[in-house]
Amino acid sequence: MPRYKLVQIQGIIKVYDNILIPDDLPKSIEWKEGRLYFLDQTLLPHHTIMEEQESAEQVYNSIKQLKVRGAPAIGVGAAYGLCVGVKNDLALSMADFKTRIKKQADYLNSARPTAVNLHWAMQRMVSHMEKSKATSTSDLYDEMVTEAQLIHNEDKKLSIGMAETGQHLIKEGMGIMTHCNAGSLATSILGTATAPLYLAHSKGLNFKVYANETRPLLQGARLTAWELQQSGIDVTLLTDNMAAHMMATGHIDMVIVGTDRVVANGDVANKIGTLGVAILAKYYDIPFYVACPSSTIDLATKTGKDIPIEERSGEEVKVIMGKTIAPANIQTRCPAFDVTPHSLVTGIVTETKLIQAPYGENIKLFMELKEKT
Ligand code: MRU
Repeated sequence: MPRYKLVQIQGIIKVYDNILIPDDLPKSIEWKEGRLYFLDQTLLPHHTIMEEQESAEQVYNSIKQLKVRGAPAIGVGAAYGLCVGVKNDLALSMADFKTRIKKQADYLNSARPTAVNLHWAMQRMVSHMEKSKATSTSDLYDEMVTEAQLIHNEDKKLSIGMAETGQHLIKEGMGIMTHCNAGSLATSILGTATAPLYLAHSKGLNFKVYANETRPLLQGARLTAWELQQSGIDVTLLTDNMAAHMMATGHIDMVIVGTDRVVANGDVANKIGTLGVAILAKYYDIPFYVACPSSTIDLATKTGKDIPIEERSGEEVKVIMGKTIAPANIQTRCPAFDVTPHSLVTGIVTETKLIQAPYGENIKLFMELKEKT
């Protein structure tokens, strides 16, 4: 049986008390005594090592190499990373210190292109700096740390909100498919797609999760299967090419995935392979949900065609866990994400509500309402 502790969080959105959160969920990011640590997710599930991040270059590489990964976690990690990146510049004049902050924010922002949370977090940190009334660089630095901590705490509350919104979709005995890792590891707590699963499980509901392994980097096998198993959730690992068969044979009642960016018309980018799962779900008439916090919604981008898709090294296709599995010099492609058109999405689970079609209208309304509260 998993261990539980009672966590009471005074949410900005709603007071969530008596929510049972598994005690042993891994923390992807920690800020302790002015120092930043990332759980090195490339070593999971074999080693759980927190690695200290000592410079902007190290944070940039940790994001690029997927030591810290998943859209919300990248945003939180980069917000702290920006503080790390300017910590040794307090002797600069205020004007030069501010220029340095902007430069480091641009640099971190360039680590990965698809997850909009990275851009969102850097913009928020720079906008805080621009509005700051701090009169010394050390005061401004302290304010930046406070802002990063605020982003981190808000991210926890957003996950709890998605848990509350999404739990109603989960029914006793269901088979639920997920792709990649939109779990606790990809956020500050509970995850996005997994948040409703954790909450439903804590309330005693029985259901089965089917985690697609998610080639090329196996986030489903290494991360989702690991964290759900740790929490006592009934999880079964599948290779990606088993999805159609599992749907055709009646094992899957619902799909829920995370996303790196939802754009104005409701199209969603997520880990490569998601589009195939969504098309299959449509064919077999299985609801396909996407879970994300408002920080993943990008109204400035109109349609999925405009989302920048990260292309990664072909080595990730040719080499698995250090072993080459293809002929030398073979040509490869390695798009890390794909775009699922909104017509395939049954609903978007957010921190306050389930958004459904017409997406263009309803996403806009949701964001307007959020601005006002
Ligand atoms: O390349 P990754 O591992 O960062 O990709 C992560 C995903 O695609 C997740 O599904 C997405 O970021 C949502 S995380 C809550």
